[in-house]
Amino acid sequence: MIFVDACFGKKTPYTPVWMMRQAGRYLPEYRAVRESAGGFIGLCKDYKKASEVTIQPVDILGVDAAILFSDILVLPMEMGLELEFVAGKGPVFHNPVLTKEDIKRLDVKSAVKNLSYVYDTVKLTRDNLKKDKALIGFAGAPWTVATYMIEGGSTKSYNICKKMLYTQPELLHEILAKVTEGTKLYLENQIKAGVNAVQIFDSWAGALERDVYLQFGWRYILEIADYIKAKYPEIPVIAFPKGIGSYLDSIGGNFDVFGVSWDTPIRMARNKLSDRYTLQGNMEPCRLYSKETIKSSVTKILNIMDGYPHIFNLGHGILPDVPVENAKYFIKLVQEMSAR
Ligand code: CP3
Repeated sequence: MIFVDACFGKKTPYTPVWMMRQAGRYLPEYRAVRESAGGFIGLCKDYKKASEVTIQPVDILGVDAAILFSDILVLPMEMGLELEFVAGKGPVFHNPVLTKEDIKRLDVKSAVKNLSYVYDTVKLTRDNLKKDKALIGFAGAPWTVATYMIEGGSTKSYNICKKMLYTQPELLHEILAKVTEGTKLYLENQIKAGVNAVQIFDSWAGALERDVYLQFGWRYILEIADYIKAKYPEIPVIAFPKGIGSYLDSIGGNFDVFGVSWDTPIRMARNKLSDRYTLQGNMEPCRLYSKETIKSSVTKILNIMDGYPHIFNLGHGILPDVPVENAKYFIKLVQEMSAR
């Protein structure tokens, strides 16, 4: 699999490419299956339909890897938090975690077991996916997942979880430790079911000061990565802490691929990290709105990463109103322009 080879820094015939959120609303085929499953959570729980939408971008766009269709929030949901996706608002947890008692109620063991629909999705997808295409499993990083658990949904200011961080840091660490424990076992079960790599999404890493992030965010990612690498050295681990470009010098640890978000110049990431990690990224997702800006960005990024270990991707997820034709153009352009 050229995706896995690239994760380990091996030479590949071209630069493999996939997109974060590649199974999603910009695809009419996705919207049709989601409708038939009665909504997003229903789709995550229906392993046959989840597997179908996982494979859609491989068939429609020709990406080099499929990413398991699910969400980072199914883990806390199965720990006992009541999750709803509200139109126009995003995810809502009706019983957020604010006290010691709330933390006690979080049931890690049951969650890991109850996520069997995810493992079934992985098995079926690996059976149906072309042999040369990788299947990426994933989880949210404990910090990002905890922001939803504590705030009860998406937030712009993070004031509830930051208040906990600065006034009751040990309480936040308890939540993070519990999510970390669940995430290790959850990713391990995805690997046992057949994923070829795992990605840890820390979408809100950039919301914290450097030293605070290293202590409350990054260290838990490293703990998960250490656990996976010790048991499954052949499975690449991709770390994606979004928005920490200003302190790449503080970044190290036992993982294989570093995801570069679009706010970080990839040349800078290359200079600081390419001797140790394959880089993944980092086209600004809104460049997909125009073929001209796709072409200028792909050309620039490929030039900078020429000869360095690289997986092409966006610097965050694809947006729902991107024309499918532009996404197709992007994938084909990367594969053709990088052919060696
Ligand atoms: O294609 C893929 O990338 C795989 C599937 C995937 C989804 N969510 C599907 C999804 C993955 C890897 C995620 C990760 C995820 N989920 C993250 C981390 C990555 C990131 O984007 O920062 C986060 C923060 C979440 C939480 C989440 N899930 C939010 C905030 C939302 C609502 C935002 C929105 O776009 O409506 C979701 C819903 C969600 N997850 C959708 C999809 C396809 C849209 C739901 C729908 O179909 O209506």
